[in-house]
Amino acid sequence: MPHLLHLDSSIGPASGPGASRSREITATFAGAWREAGAQHTVHHRDLVAEPLPHLLDPALHWAPPLRPAGSSPDPAAEALQARLLEELLAADVLLVGCPLYNYSLPSTLKVWLDNVHVPGTTTAFPGHDTQPLAGRTAVVVTSRGGTYDPGTPTADWDHAVPPLRIVLGDALGMDVRVITTSATLSEEVEALAAGAERARAERAAAHEQAAALARELAGASL
Ligand SMILES: Cc1cc2nc3c(=O)[nH]c(=O)nc-3n(C[C@H](O)[C@H](O)[C@H](O)COP(=O)(O)O)c2cc1C
Repeated sequence: MPHLLHLDSSIGPASGPGASRSREITATFAGAWREAGAQHTVHHRDLVAEPLPHLLDPALHWAPPLRPAGSSPDPAAEALQARLLEELLAADVLLVGCPLYNYSLPSTLKVWLDNVHVPGTTTAFPGHDTQPLAGRTAVVVTSRGGTYDPGTPTADWDHAVPPLRIVLGDALGMDVRVITTSATLSEEVEALAAGAERARAERAAAHEQAAALARELAGASL
């Protein structure tokens, strides 16, 4: 059964005035995935409604055989990490809603990433030739209040997507696709209204891209 793991990390509402763009666009993707047929299942993990606790033991960064001698992680933290890994490993496609907060990814999403980047389990390590998610697709939907166009002074200031590309792509071996919507604040803040037309166009394009990619990936997962 083609299965989607859908993560959201925006602190904005899912709908109504001031709705989160990333939540709206991931919802479009998940809706198109479901419409592909009853066999296309979805597990939605809302990292804001149900925030994960920080990873507080460095031993949990490693697969059990690679942990430092004498380490004994908290069983509850270990069980939670095992559940998050199980959810990820069960997914044919991963969908991640990732707003830009203070030029970085939301801390709630970072905690999830800290739990699933585990050398020896999800990524290879000398003596542990494992990369179980290699070749699967991760779709990152990112939304940014400002603009970060090539050639502008802030071109390199968006540090939300790069760690996801490195961890999900380079380390876990997933095929990372990114859907971006920028200038979102210009639809809300009067002083930034000059960018509103661009924001609306990017938002509409992002919805279309999300629906088309969901249909493509749902078809490929059968
Ligand atoms: C805590 C916080 C920090 C933010 N920091 C940035 C930032 O560094 N750069 C930026 O362009 N927009 C920033 N924004 C604006 C958001 O990126 C923008 O509202 C975006 O649309 C949020 O995603 P969402 O629509 O999915 O909620 C910030 C918003 C919040 C709430």
